[in-house]
Amino acid sequence: MAQNSSFKSPKRLNSLQGGAADQSSGAVPGGKARDASLEGIDFERRNFLGKTVGGIGAVVAAGALYPVVKYIIPPAEKEVKEKDEVVVGKVSEVPPDTGKIFQFNKDKVIVVNNGGKLSAVSAVCTHLGCLVQWKADEDIIYCACHGARYEDNGQIISGPQPLPLAPYNVRVDGDDLVISKA
Ligand code: FES
Repeated sequence: MAQNSSFKSPKRLNSLQGGAADQSSGAVPGGKARDASLEGIDFERRNFLGKTVGGIGAVVAAGALYPVVKYIIPPAEKEVKEKDEVVVGKVSEVPPDTGKIFQFNKDKVIVVNNGGKLSAVSAVCTHLGCLVQWKADEDIIYCACHGARYEDNGQIISGPQPLPLAPYNVRVDGDDLVISKA
């Protein structure tokens, strides 16, 4: 009963009724009315600024991450199409009784001028892969690693090598030296 009487007190009733009224209207007790507090704020402008700042942040983040990603993911190997015939240099680069190694696609090829007769063979020794050289005093292609000896057409003379040197075609076109697959 004591509780009832205090509940029914005019002061208490008034505060309860006032609170209910506040809740139903959604107003914050003691605060300003919502419409009044939002006056003068341009929501579209704030939205635009937020998007702009976000966009700039994304660009900066992408710029920072790009080199990291490029470092982690190796670039795809470019497929280089091999050519059947390549101008490797000038005829004057291989005077009589000399030999010179040229790059032909991915291969190294030695062009030999043996007394005016040109020949071309692989410059990679078939023993363990050393590069060969022309030995003018013996008219042979020679591998200094373990003494393999080849004729100027790549055929084996002597040494530990299991196979002859692979042959290539060589021709002169004006001043150019042209190598092609045999
Ligand atoms: S690599 Fe040429 S002889 Fe051994």
